[in-house]
Amino acid sequence: MTRAGHLAARFAGSLRARHLDRADLEFVRQFLRPEERACWERLRRADRAESLATARAALEALGTDADPAWVAAALLHDVGKAETRLGSVGRAWATVTAGLVGHRRARAWPNAMGRYVNHDELGAERLRQAGARKETVAWAGAHHRRAQWPATGIPPEICEILAAADGEPSLR
Ligand SMILES: [Fe+2]
Ligand SMILES: [Fe+2]
Repeated sequence: MTRAGHLAARFAGSLRARHLDRADLEFVRQFLRPEERACWERLRRADRAESLATARAALEALGTDADPAWVAAALLHDVGKAETRLGSVGRAWATVTAGLVGHRRARAWPNAMGRYVNHDELGAERLRQAGARKETVAWAGAHHRRAQWPATGIPPEICEILAAADGEPSLR
């Protein structure tokens, strides 16, 4: 999918984010520790739905004997999005403008768009402070930056599976 197509799909998805049902919440309880769940619960409805879709896709690719830490990493990868009160339009705008000026610069913007672009680092920091598993901290911080994957300690094939399950674009 093109970047524009990805954005359009994500925007449409955020508008029709479904309510989570009992099975969804049971899935979250099964794979997250209480301190991790507290981070996850800060997400808004659309982000929770995206988290579950990502984790289920990852579990399917990993197989049922997968290390639960990888499923937890998939569930928690975007918890940093809770740090910004940006709606769907603002998020799409932040992504487009960050693509134009470069993500490194956009991360430093002292506003909601900057926090959105920087959601990977903000999420990793929150998870670290909460005492989450180190795999979840590492993946939250690196999930958009392929160059950082080797430093995470997560096997490369797992990084590929987690990134494919997410479907978010790589950033510079
Ligand atoms: Fe992300
Ligand atoms: Fe994501």
